[in-house]
Parts: sequence; structure tokens; C-alpha cells
Amino acid sequence: MGTLGSIAIAVLVLVLQHDRVHGKHAYEKLNKCDIYQGSWVYDDSYPLYDSSLCNFIENAFNCQKNGRPDKHYLKYRWQPSSCKLPRFDVEDLLERLRNKRIMFVGDSLSLNQWQSLTCMVHAASPQSEYTIERTGSISTMKFLSHNASLMLQRNAFLVDIVEERQGWVLKLNSIDHNDQKAWKDSDVLIFNSWHWWLHTGRKQPWNFIQDGDNLHEDMDRLVAYEKALKTWARWVDKNVDPTKTKVFYQSFSPTHWNSTGWGYPEGKNCSSETQPLIAPPYPRSRHPAELIVERVLSNMSKPVGLLNVTALSRLRKDAHPSIYGIGGHHGMDCSHWCLAGVPDTWNNLLYAELIRI
Ligand SMILES: *[C@@H]1O[C@H](CO)[C@@H](O)[C@H](O)[C@H]1NC(C)=O
Ligand SMILES: *[C@@H]1O[C@H](CO)[C@@H](O)[C@H](O)[C@H]1NC(C)=O
Ligand SMILES: *[C@@H]1O[C@H](CO)[C@@H](O)[C@H](O)[C@H]1NC(C)=O
Ligand SMILES: *[C@@H]1O[C@H](CO)[C@@H](O)[C@H](O)[C@H]1NC(C)=O
Ligand SMILES: *[C@@H]1O[C@H](CO)[C@@H](O)[C@H](O)[C@H]1NC(C)=O
Repeated sequence: MGTLGSIAIAVLVLVLQHDRVHGKHAYEKLNKCDIYQGSWVYDDSYPLYDSSLCNFIENAFNCQKNGRPDKHYLKYRWQPSSCKLPRFDVEDLLERLRNKRIMFVGDSLSLNQWQSLTCMVHAASPQSEYTIERTGSISTMKFLSHNASLMLQRNAFLVDIVEERQGWVLKLNSIDHNDQKAWKDSDVLIFNSWHWWLHTGRKQPWNFIQDGDNLHEDMDRLVAYEKALKTWARWVDKNVDPTKTKVFYQSFSPTHWNSTGWGYPEGKNCSSETQPLIAPPYPRSRHPAELIVERVLSNMSKPVGLLNVTALSRLRKDAHPSIYGIGGHHGMDCSHWCLAGVPDTWNNLLYAELIRI
């Protein structure tokens, strides 16, 4: 090889080493960074995808298609205070998920996030072949190029809800009826459960709550939630193999039904909100459900990551479907999120968690 060749190789090696050092530095910074502390910044390159190219989005989240006139809410990027959030790199994610399964387990907020992830991946490689199938409570979108499965299990309570002689019973201490095989077979699990714990009346799907040997017609919902989460935590501690499966729990997704929560007089909901909050309007204590989650996770023996999205999502009073969800002008939705939108950021944060060393 000539001198020029050697020089070229030496330069290449130097460049590669420099890159590696740089990359490592960035990872170390990311590892130490609390990626959930930060602010929303306007970024004209957003959203990450054009929702009209993602024809499998549920109508309920498809705000632009349903006629939402403003687009400002699409343009916000989450910026952590002490590091850069890594760019959502679809090729890298698919490579990490080659021959693997990632599964969201939870209620319609999990559906919201799963759809966001499938759109983010599909939009980046629209020519990639995929299949979508639904078996029981599990929906799977598989990208054939990588045999990568993006899955959703609809499961509002995580613990069992069983029909018995006396009616539907929500069992705080048992988790046997869930599809444990699907959980064990997953390489990444993201759990979420909260909103259904609050439902009463016609939206409450159970007649009794069972706690130990006692059957209750009702009980303090926070107490019930904590008992159920402990049951879930025991399942994870006993069954998850951390060398195969990474487990995350996502803190709850805030709603914007009542404007006293963001410093306006009472009586407004999320309709006609077009701007995020810059900062929480006044010092507010954290929701007890967040504290329950942190308490339960901190007492687990297996590593479980907390996707701490509650506070950052609380700023996004502008990003709900409001009348541009499935209800059209007759309904109002201040609980879910438009797609593109806030769940894309949750997935970017999840991606950051997956690449942290
Ligand atoms: C495809 O991925 C699944 C996991 O979802 C795995 O069980 C299977 O072995 C993979 N197929 C091949 C051909 O590697
Ligand atoms: C809104 O929140 C305030 C303060 O928590 C409460 O007093 C009020 O009853 C709530 N309004 C509705 C309609 O829920
Ligand atoms: C939401 O707010 C709008 C405008 O103030 C009002 O017309 C509507 O009834 C409210 N809807 C709900 C479900 O609170
Ligand atoms: C922590 O976990 C242990 C063993 O799993 C359990 O006995 C104990 O009650 C838990 N403590 C709390 C505060 O949840
Ligand atoms: C989650 O975020 C909240 C609000 O920013 C913060 O107070 C809390 O310490 C965070 N929890 C963890 C476990 O990092």
C-alpha cells in the first residue's frame, strides 16, 4: 500500500476514534441526564411525520383529518434541561428490535402511544412491508424487513377482572388471567394503568373489588390502585428475566378537563386551547397516583424504568383532540392526544431509555 493509502487509513482511524469518543461522551451525558426535566421548544421541523401518510391511525386521534384548523400544537419538541434528547433513529430502533417484540400493556393511552410508534416507524420507511393483526386483546404490527413486532395489549387494570356468580370482580391480588406468556415473550414491556381506576357509574366495568378474602362494593380508588400495582410488581419480580426483557412503567397521562388546573378560572376544558403552558402555573403538589407508582417501583427487586412523562405532558393543554376526535363536534376529548403529537415525544423518551447504556 502506498503512503497516501496509509495516510488515508490513519485519518480514517482518527476520525472513527474521534467519533467513538464523541459518541461515548454523548451517552455518558445522556446516562446522567434527567430527560423528563426540561421545556417544550418551538421547532419548525416538527412534527416527526405527516399523519395523513399513516392511514392506520384511529379516527379518535386523527385531529388534522377531522378538521382541526390550527397546526401550532404540532411544532413542539421536548428539550431536556441538561442534555440533548437523541434523535429518534428509526433504522437504529428497528435494528435493536430485529427478531424481537416490544409491547405496550395498558388502556387507550397505550393505544395512543402504540399508534404513535407505528406511525413514527412507518413514516420513516414507508416502503417497508408490514403486517397488522389482532388476536384477542393483542394487536401486532410487524415490520417484515427486521421481523420486528410492535405490540399492544389492551389491559386497563393489569390485575384480573373476572366474571363470577355475583358479577364482574376486580381482583387486586391476582394477575393469573392475564396473558403472561405474551409478557414473558416480550423483549421490551411498557406498562401503564390509571384512568380506569377512576371510572364510576356506567363506565365502571366491575361490580365488586376483591381484596384478599373480602369483597367490596367499592373502596378508596388510590388504595385499590396501590394494592394492584404491588400485585403487578410481585409478578414482575418473580417472572421477568432482566437479561431478556426490559420493563418500563409509564406514569399517568394527565387530562385537561378543568382549567383551574392550569390557572384559569373554573369552567374551561381543553377546547380552543392552542398553546402549551410554559411552566406549571403555580407550585402544585404531585398527584398521589404518581407517588404510588414511585413508591411501588422503588421497592422492586428487578430493574424497572420509570417513564416519568406526567409533568411534561401536563403542560400540553393544547394537544388533546378536543372536538377533533372521534366524537366530532358532539364529543369532547381532553384525555387522549392528537397524532402526530405528545405520544411521539413519549416514544422519543422511550427510545432514549433504550439506548442508555
Ligand atoms: C421473528 O421474531 C420472533 C419474535 O417476535 C421470533 O420468535 C422468531 O424466531 C423470529 N423469526 C426468525 C426467522 O428469526
Ligand atoms: C375544577 O377544579 C376545582 C379545583 O380543584 C374544583 O373546585 C371544581 O369543582 C372542578 N370543576 C369541575 C367541573 O370538575
Ligand atoms: C368544554 O368547553 C366548551 C367551551 O367552553 C363547552 O361548550 C363544552 O360544553 C365543554 N364540554 C365538556 C364536556 O365539558
Ligand atoms: C416491599 O417489598 C417487600 C417484599 O416484596 C414487601 O414485603 C413489603 O411489604 C414491601 N414494602 C412496601 C412499602 O411496599
Ligand atoms: C418525575 O418527575 C417529577 C416532576 O418533574 C419529579 O418531581 C420526580 O422526582 C421524578 N421522579 C423520578 C423518580 O425521577
